[in-house]
Amino acid sequence: EAELLAAVEEIRELKRQKNAVILSHFYMPAELQVEHKDGGIADFVGDSLGLSVAAKSVEADNIIFCGVKFMAETAKVLNPVKQVLLPSFDAGCSLAESITGADVRKLKEQYPGVPVVAYINTYAETKAEADICCTSRNALDIARSLGGDKLIFLPDLFMGRNLQTKIKAETGKELILWEGKCEVHEQFTPQRINGLKLMYPEAQVLVHWEVPDNTVADALTGAGGVVGSTSDIIRFVGESKTRQFILGSECDLGATLRGMYPEKEFIVPCIKCPHMKQITIQRTLEALRAIGTEKEALFEVTLDAEISRRALAPIERMLAFA
Ligand code: 13P
Ligand code: SF4
Repeated sequence: EAELLAAVEEIRELKRQKNAVILSHFYMPAELQVEHKDGGIADFVGDSLGLSVAAKSVEADNIIFCGVKFMAETAKVLNPVKQVLLPSFDAGCSLAESITGADVRKLKEQYPGVPVVAYINTYAETKAEADICCTSRNALDIARSLGGDKLIFLPDLFMGRNLQTKIKAETGKELILWEGKCEVHEQFTPQRINGLKLMYPEAQVLVHWEVPDNTVADALTGAGGVVGSTSDIIRFVGESKTRQFILGSECDLGATLRGMYPEKEFIVPCIKCPHMKQITIQRTLEALRAIGTEKEALFEVTLDAEISRRALAPIERMLAFA
């Protein structure tokens, strides 16, 4: 406890001295999600879309990104004059790793003229080949808005199938999908969620777009629930009259929800994203200490200028859409 408080104090002081802000994702450990005004360290806590919007308007010289590498890269693309530091480069993502820019170029040759939607969970070189990006919050609206009878959605196979279920019924549009999977959300199998539903029949089920499509089909029957993004899940709980929920998403989102809605109960099979958990308060402190020293390069997100320029267009198209 004393060690944690000392780290929080030092981080707050270093942010001032080094003109830095901390952006933190909802999957971070609780101590990295407490906002500065409440005695914590984060200047902004959000989902991947909220963090992109926030990164774009940062005025401080340095952004410490408490999230994974593709998110920090997106911040750098959106605000290239700032220095973006990631506390650990082991914070990858199974979706982002599943596809390269060359893979997208091949898909485009195979399906000429078909629009390419790249999920934000991709690296900049993959985004650079896409027509538009999306996050879990706006994927459905963006996919609906594109013309034509086909679209390429990558790289999340399950999310693609979940979107396809809705879009095909409405518009007949066919989605061409990639084989990427989120190593966290793929573990929310129908057996896992159905077992909990038997035990807690009154509970509503909250599942992220990235869970398997056969899980979603079962999850929403009975007491109901929602399939959506992290912020859709947070909003749904706030608006629901139900008291008990089963969470089919990252473990630390359970802690976030308990903090936001202390009167409600959350049943959370605790599956942690090993990438997000590379970011700790200690590593965040080390990244801050490194600013202005020769250790800075260990944490700095750098992008090829041409890739960054090309990745900006599909991200900006997404933000304009919102
Ligand atoms: P959000 O877009 O909901 O923040 O999701 C990010 C993510 O990594 C989901 O696994
Ligand atoms: Fe990637 Fe899944 Fe981790 Fe999100 S939870 S960062 S999609 S591996």
